[in-house]
Amino acid sequence: MPGTDSPQIHSSADGLRLWTGQQSDGAITRPARSGRRVTKWLQLARLAVVNPRECSDRIRGLLEIRLGGTRRTQPLASREIATWDSLADRAATHFPPSPSRAELERDFEDVRALLARRADQLGRTPYPLELDADPLLARLAYFLTRWLKPNVVVETGVALGVTTSFILAALGDARGEGRLVSIDRPPLGVPCEMVGQLVPDELRDRWTLHIGTSVRVLPQVLPQLPPIGLFVQDSLFTSRNVRQELSHIIPRLAPRSAVVANAADQSDGFSWLASQIDPTLVAIMRAERKSECIGVSVFDRTTSEPASA
Ligand SMILES: C[S@@+](CC[C@H](N)C(=O)[O-])C[C@H]1O[C@@H](n2cnc3c(N)ncnc32)[C@H](O)[C@@H]1O
Repeated sequence: MPGTDSPQIHSSADGLRLWTGQQSDGAITRPARSGRRVTKWLQLARLAVVNPRECSDRIRGLLEIRLGGTRRTQPLASREIATWDSLADRAATHFPPSPSRAELERDFEDVRALLARRADQLGRTPYPLELDADPLLARLAYFLTRWLKPNVVVETGVALGVTTSFILAALGDARGEGRLVSIDRPPLGVPCEMVGQLVPDELRDRWTLHIGTSVRVLPQVLPQLPPIGLFVQDSLFTSRNVRQELSHIIPRLAPRSAVVANAADQSDGFSWLASQIDPTLVAIMRAERKSECIGVSVFDRTTSEPASA
C-alpha cells in the first residue's frame, strides 16, 4: 500500500491480527478523508521545518504515486502466475538440504501463533491491518530464510513487523549466525518507537533497525554488510523507488540469494530486476488476502539453467 501516511489507532485484539478472520477495522476508526488530508498537510508542514530532507522525500513519494509511479508499463517478469506449491517444489532443488516442507510448515504455524498472541498483548496500534504482510509474503520470508540460511537478510518496510518477525524467527530456527537489517520510515505521525512493535523481545538480538528513507539509508548501511542472502522489498512500491532500492542491492547479492518484491504487479521495478541480473528461478504469485501479486527471484550462480516456476 503506497500511500500510508495517515495513522489512526487500530485494534489488534481478539486475534484479528495475523490473519485468522482478519479484517480491516479502518472503517470504524478512520476519521473523514478531508480531516485526514488536513492533518497530513499540517504534519508535512511541521516536518518541512524540522527535517526538510525527509519532507521532500515524502512529497516526492506522494507525487510519484499520483503521477502513476505505481502503474506497470512493462510486462511482468514471468507470464505465468505460479502457485506456492510449484515454487516450493522448484526452490527445493536450488537450496542446501533443509528440514522437510511439512516440518517447515509446522514451524511457520508456531511462529504465526506466537505473533498472534503478541498482537493481542499489544492491543491498539497506529498501524491499520491492511499494512500487515499478506500470509503469502510472510510465508515466503520465512521459508526462503530457512532454505537459504543467509548470513544477512535486508528488508525495506517494517510497519508493525510481520515480515520482520517471521524472518527473525526463521534465522533463529535455522540456528545459524544470520542477521536481519531492516529499514523503515514510519507513516507521518507514527512515532519511530512503534516500528516493529510486533517483534517479540526474544527475537530481537539478531536485528538492526534503521529509521529513514530506504534509498538514503541503503547506501550507508550496505557497505558494512557481508553479501546479502535475501532482500525483501515492502516499502514504497513506485517504479523509481523499487529500482533504486534494487540498484543498491543487486551488486551486493550473495552467489546464492533471493529477492522478494511485494506488489510486484504494481510497478516496473520487479521486471526491471530480471533485466539486470538473470534469475535462476522467477515466480509471480497472487497474494492470498490482498489484490496484489508478489514476485520472487532466486539467484543461484552455481547453476546455469534459468527457469520459471
Ligand atoms: C506495507 S508496509 C510494510 C509491512 C511489513 N513488511 C509487514 O510485514 O508488516 C510499508 C512500510 O514501509 C514504510 N515506507 C514507505 N515508504 C518508505 C520509504 N521510502 N522508505 C522506508 N520505508 C518506507 C511505510 O511507512 C510502512 O511502514
